Amino acid sequence: MPNIVVLGAGVSGLTCALLLSKQKGNAVTVVAKHMPGDYDIEYTSPWAGANVLPMALDHDSRWERRTWPELRRLAAEVPEAGLHVQTARVLRRQADVAADLVKAALGDGGLFDLSPWYREVMGRFRDIPPSELPPGMHSGCEFTSVCINTAIYLPWLVGQCAKHGVRFRRAVLKHVSEAAGMSHTGQKADIVVNASGLLACKLGGVMDSRVYPARGQIVLVRNEADGIMPTTSGCDDGFDELVYVMQRALGGGTVLGGTYQRGNWDPNPDPNIAMRIMKRAVETHPELTGGKGVEGLDIIRHGVGLRPAREGGVRIEKEMIDGTWVVHNYGHAGWGYQGSYGCAERVVELVDEIVGKTKRASKL
Ligand SMILES: Cc1cc2nc3c(=O)[nH]c(=O)nc-3n(C[C@H](O)[C@H](O)[C@H](O)COP(=O)(O)OP(=O)(O)OC[C@H]3O[C@@H](n4cnc5c(N)ncnc54)[C@H](O)[C@@H]3O)c2cc1C
Ligand SMILES: *[C@@H]1O[C@H](CO)[C@@H](O)[C@H](O)[C@H]1NC(C)=O
Repeated sequence: MPNIVVLGAGVSGLTCALLLSKQKGNAVTVVAKHMPGDYDIEYTSPWAGANVLPMALDHDSRWERRTWPELRRLAAEVPEAGLHVQTARVLRRQADVAADLVKAALGDGGLFDLSPWYREVMGRFRDIPPSELPPGMHSGCEFTSVCINTAIYLPWLVGQCAKHGVRFRRAVLKHVSEAAGMSHTGQKADIVVNASGLLACKLGGVMDSRVYPARGQIVLVRNEADGIMPTTSGCDDGFDELVYVMQRALGGGTVLGGTYQRGNWDPNPDPNIAMRIMKRAVETHPELTGGKGVEGLDIIRHGVGLRPAREGGVRIEKEMIDGTWVVHNYGHAGWGYQGSYGCAERVVELVDEIVGKTKRASKL
């Protein structure tokens, strides 16, 4: 009976714990400094929008491809999970296409590709005809996506884990050996899953210096959007600022974004950035305030989250550290939700390899 300790209770750790607990015979303990309900700059998941805007390049798209069917299913069949279906609208600005800048937006991915891989994956995909494009846009596309109310979804994941026998403990760990001693069974863990997010660069024996923050600032408002989640390849306010709007399910408010500021650790909302975010949002989405402009916005709060980015991309691999098998799963940058099941599925495979089982057919 493999004893598994999952370090981390963000979307990565919780999704791993859930899939591992569904496999017969696993005893799973989640150990975390922060848990759903906490809002802390070291804990990224609660700050996310979140929605599905496929970001990987094609060769790296497995995580997002494998996750999408499950998120779509949750939105359609499991209302209490806090997801709902919305239409994503991806717009490429003329200026960004001309300057060959569309790749740089949101972390060097494929979201703004002229012919993206995800056109075969996302439902109701269509290229937006020129007559429907807003001024200044080169081209764009639309497809069916979902928006996740993270304040509902993370506690829902905890509940699903509990239902499958996962135990939860609060602790701040300094080293893998400590993690291995935290299984609720009282025995040494056979495997530690390392889903420590941004802290993978700060804590522990083998610090990963390739992990860095990509700061995201948002404004959460009570105003309602119209079911469309637009995002553009850039904006006039600077290369690390973004434009996106998404209304969350179950009264979660509407998220106005945002920024993608590499290497910036500032946990405080910058009021000037907030003003620019709101101005851009009402320009692209006049219906938010019925044409009343920024003054018509009703602010719930300002937020800052640090996306756990990593040079060279996400790290999902097994490693023996001081006599304990560790399966790493960190560095998800801006796509931790939309890649969560694909990554967790890979973690289950690696755990299976370690315990010597034959590979099982995926349940997803
Ligand atoms: C503004 C913003 C918007 C975003 N929008 C989207 C989006 O639309 N779609 C999307 O898919 N993603 C989005 N993201 C990205 C997404 O939020 C992240 O990729 C994801 O939350 C990373 O989750 P994680 O579980 O890896 O890390 P975290 O959520 O940070 O969790 C890390 C966990 O590890 C624990 N931990 C770490 N070290 C230790 C230790 N030594 N001891 C004990 N516990 C420890 C922490 O306490 C925590 O529980 C967005 C992010 C931001 C900031
Ligand atoms: C997780 O990985 C990071 C980076 O390699 C390392 O600093 C940390 O010690 C690891 N934690 C565990 C429990 O394996």
